[in-house]
Amino acid sequence: NVQQVRHLEVGRKGTYIAKKMPTTAKLEAGKKYWWCKCGLSKKQPFCDGAHKPTKFKPVMIMVDKPKTVLLCRCKQTSKEPYCDMTHVGVMFSSFGKRLGLVK
Ligand code: FES
Repeated sequence: NVQQVRHLEVGRKGTYIAKKMPTTAKLEAGKKYWWCKCGLSKKQPFCDGAHKPTKFKPVMIMVDKPKTVLLCRCKQTSKEPYCDMTHVGVMFSSFGKRLGLVK
C-alpha cells in the first residue's frame, strides 16, 4: 500500500499530507505547471506522476503575469492549488491524534 511505503498520513480529503506547511513557487507567465493533488509526488508541490495508483489527478496552474504564489502541500486546502491555511488545523489535529485527544 502506497501509504505505508511513503509513511504519509491521509487527510480528510483522502489525499496524502505531503507536508504540513505550504511552499512558495515563482511561476512564469504562460507556462503550465501541474500541482500535485494526491500528496505522493517527490517533487512537491508539483506532480511527478506518483498519483497513478490513486484516484487523484494533478491540477494545472497557469498565470498571465510572473507571480510568486503560496502552494498547498498538506493537500487539504479548499482553494486548490493555493494554501488557505487549512494546514494549521491539520498540524493541530495530527498532534491531537498523537496525544489521543482526537480520533
Ligand atoms: S499547506 Fe495546505 S492549506 Fe496550507
